[in-house]
Amino acid sequence: MSQDEPVTPPASAPRVHFDPAEMEVRAFYRILNSVVVPRPIAWVCSRSADGVVNLAPHSFYTVACVDPPVVQFTSVGRKDSLRNVEATGEFTISLTPENLFEQVNATGTDFPPGLSEAEHAGVRLEPSERVSVPRVAESPVALECVLHSTLRLGDSTVVLGRVLHAAVWETAVRDGRPRIEHLKPLARLGGNEWSTIGEVKEIARIPYRTWTDDPSIGERVRGD
Ligand SMILES: Cc1cc2nc3c(=O)[nH]c(=O)nc-3n(C[C@H](O)[C@H](O)[C@H](O)COP(=O)(O)O)c2cc1C
Repeated sequence: MSQDEPVTPPASAPRVHFDPAEMEVRAFYRILNSVVVPRPIAWVCSRSADGVVNLAPHSFYTVACVDPPVVQFTSVGRKDSLRNVEATGEFTISLTPENLFEQVNATGTDFPPGLSEAEHAGVRLEPSERVSVPRVAESPVALECVLHSTLRLGDSTVVLGRVLHAAVWETAVRDGRPRIEHLKPLARLGGNEWSTIGEVKEIARIPYRTWTDDPSIGERVRGD
């Protein structure tokens, strides 16, 4: 961009400004929850030192590292999932499928530590391949993890899990890759809003060489 071009186009939309320094913590949390969307939901299964199986949804969830394969979820405050993972060093993360919408929500109920959410919500579990914690039988995907480390950040704890195994329904895999039309994941939005997968679009990454060889690509993208 040359020096005399404006940084902001003249017809910028008016914005509402939210300053975390001037807001209640919970109020800014609601803003963050509404704008970091859609979030995938990890259905975290863990077992307490006493052997009670726990199942809870966590939407602060993503891939943290490629090599080694590591995923992360965040416990806001100290919850049973976090305590169990710290105690046993194992957990599974099952994908939350659309057809189990009500069950996923029900496992977010603050049941006391001695009660199994899976049992109360009628979610069927099955043994895992590589860890002693079960996975959700009715979910097409389970990641079997051992605790890599935790990172304490203010009121929250990021849990990093080394993925030892991914168990995916055969019917959900095409040409060696799990396919979105068979996974049908739920996602979390702001407030009490959730979403399902809408229109799926495909586009290939443009190598810089192609970009320079064919000026019409850039023109089309910029709308010149
Ligand atoms: C869809 C959904 C997503 C959630 N995401 C999170 C999250 O990312 N982190 C968190 O600490 N709690 C999250 N919660 C709330 C926990 O699931 C809830 O506090 C639950 O009771 C924790 O269970 P536990 O104490 O058995 O670990 C979420 C709840 C729902 C329904």
